[in-house]
Order: sequence, then structure tokens, then C-alpha cells
Amino acid sequence: MRVLLVAPPGAGKGTQGALIATHFGVPHIATGDLLRDHVARGTALGRSVRDHLSRGELVPDEVVLDMVGAAFTEAKAAGGGYVLDGMPRNMAQARALYEIGRNLQMTANVALHLQADDEEQLIRRLLARAALEGRSDDTEPVIRHRLALYHEVTHPIVDWYASRGILVSVDAMRPVERVARQILTALEAMRPLVDLVPEHARRSIDLTGLGAAFGRNDPDPVV
Ligand code: AP5
Repeated sequence: MRVLLVAPPGAGKGTQGALIATHFGVPHIATGDLLRDHVARGTALGRSVRDHLSRGELVPDEVVLDMVGAAFTEAKAAGGGYVLDGMPRNMAQARALYEIGRNLQMTANVALHLQADDEEQLIRRLLARAALEGRSDDTEPVIRHRLALYHEVTHPIVDWYASRGILVSVDAMRPVERVARQILTALEAMRPLVDLVPEHARRSIDLTGLGAAFGRNDPDPVV
């Protein structure tokens, strides 16, 4: 299974990405984690991107494309599946990623959109995480900037994935386990077909209206 995640900060890319990767036994490639690891180790790359991360700005495209190209080569050797979390962030990255994937015969089967429209709840989630983890970009002004950047440059790529017929949308404003159950149910149903359906015959799937079947009305115990 080859899945990439598109979602605003706090929607659950890292949380759901890890669950999907474990379920399918594929690598979880998280660009934010890779960048923070460079910063923590004080590498030259880490020093060059540290301020971008603290300010909630995107790092230069070529930096993340090199990182993901290397991670894809490793994923190919490990069987070819992946969950990509944090990329693409803009249209240029989406197109470049598609080329990397085509060259390695590893283009995404599914672009999973975690729909999360309640910004105040996303901010609460991230401020709660800040108290535990202390990420440099989890302050309220920087979170608001990251959300604005998402709407300006990242969200438009959702339409591109829809036009390619590989978009799967879920409602991410529910408890983690409910969101995970819906995602894994959908991906399991698609699993036998994903490599058989030609690109021109693919259709996007919108599951955001199916919340009740997956516990839409349950209270959110986490936030
Ligand atoms: P990145 O690490 O990707 O950060 P982000 O997109 O801002 O996303 P977050 O990690 O904040 O949230 P998430 O959606 O992963 O949610 P999570 O599961 O963690 O990127 C950081 C920075 O790196 C960028 O700003 C940029 O500078 C740079 N960067 C990265 N990729 C780049 C790229 N391709 N190009 C350029 N620059 C790039 O959950 C958040 C919290 O909510 C957790 O505490 C979690 O427990 C909780 N939570 C999750 N789901 C739920 C739920 N359903 N209910 C209640 N709580 C929940």
C-alpha cells in the first residue's frame, strides 16, 4: 500500500500515519520528523532549516525532495510500500513527488485527506501537545501561521489528487480510534484493487458523511 497524507497541522497525520504504517507493515516517512531529527543532531541540514521550523515556514522544496527521494529508495528495497506524512506541501512538491514515484514505480495509490475544519480544536490539540513535547513551532501565533499556510499553499493540492481519482477523504475531527477504524476499513477494502485499476478508471472516495457509522456522535475523549 502506498499512501500519502494531506491535512492541516494537528489533524492527525503523524498519529494516523503511524497506525496505517504499522497495519500494513510499511515505512512511515514523516518529513517533519526527519527535519526535527536533523535539528536535534545539529547537522548542517538541521542548522539550515531550524529557523524555518520555529517560524512555521516551509523549508526549501529541494531539501525535502532530496530527503524523500532517499527514503523512497529505501522503501523500494523494503518492498515498495510507504505512508508519506508531511509531503507534498505545495503544487511544485506534488508534481516533483509524482515524478520521483514514477521513476521508482511507486506513485501513491491513495492520497488520504484528513478533513479538519474546526481550527480552534486543532489549536487546542497542538497547545496540549506543546505542554508535553515542547515543539518549537507549537506556540499559538506559529500554529495560526501554519494553519494559514496550509490553506494558502497546501490545501489546493487536494483538488489535484481528486482529479487523479486517488483522493480518499475522512472526517478527522473525531476520536483517534474512530478515525483510524474508518481509514483502515477503507484501505483494506481498496487493497486488492489498488494496483489493478488503471489511472483513467480511478475514482475518489468521500467518506466524510459516513461519520455516524464510525461513531460520529460520540464525545471526543482526547480533547
Ligand atoms: P510537520 O511535522 O509535518 O507538522 P504539521 O504539518 O504542522 O503537523 P503536526 O505534526 O503539527 O500535526 P499532525 O497533523 O501530524 O497531527 P499529530 O498526529 O501530530 O512539519 C513541521 C514543519 O516541518 C513544517 O512547518 C515545515 O517547517 C517543515 N516541513 C515538513 N514537511 C515539509 C515539506 N514537505 N516542505 C517544506 N517544509 C516542510 O497530532 C497532533 C496532536 O493532536 C497530538 O498531540 C495528537 O495526539 C493529537 N491528536 C491527533 N489526532 C487526534 C484526534 N483525532 N483527536 C484528538 N487529538 C488528536
